[in-house]
Amino acid sequence: MDEKITLTITRRKLTEILIGVAAIFFASGSIAAVFKYLWPATGETSASSQVKIASVDEVPTGSTKKFMFNGKASVLLHMPAGFRAFGSVCTHLGCIASWKPDENVLLCPCHLGKFDPNTGSVVSGPPPSPLPAIEVIVKEGAVYALKWKDPAYVKTISFYAGAA
Ligand code: FES
Repeated sequence: MDEKITLTITRRKLTEILIGVAAIFFASGSIAAVFKYLWPATGETSASSQVKIASVDEVPTGSTKKFMFNGKASVLLHMPAGFRAFGSVCTHLGCIASWKPDENVLLCPCHLGKFDPNTGSVVSGPPPSPLPAIEVIVKEGAVYALKWKDPAYVKTISFYAGAA
């Protein structure tokens, strides 16, 4: 019961099939682009996504909390004037600065760079530029990080590559 099936396709028919397949291929790409435009994917992170840092009660005035923001070590400070947040990766050589309440500065332990806890600006030491500030809001009893205040500045700091 060996049956042999032979299929004969003319050159013209083969060309028509290939053109049809190519047309479907390009049309599906165009249709997909239209659908993606009309219904963008959900779950993508945006530059303004909120990250809950802490409940307000966790960080009373004069205290801090460390957290990660866009993959970088960061610090939330509750200053008398309100909440402040900064990337805590030092702009000098990338060590981690932390709150030193007796001096009212963010101190980098590697080369004693000091930063203003209200602005992130350099107070003293070798850091060439300020710590990047993070925009925060207080909502329903919690503090959220929103975005870098100056993403263009963050892109210029080598230790923050990919964080802006
Ligand atoms: S790494 Fe921070 S002062 Fe040098």
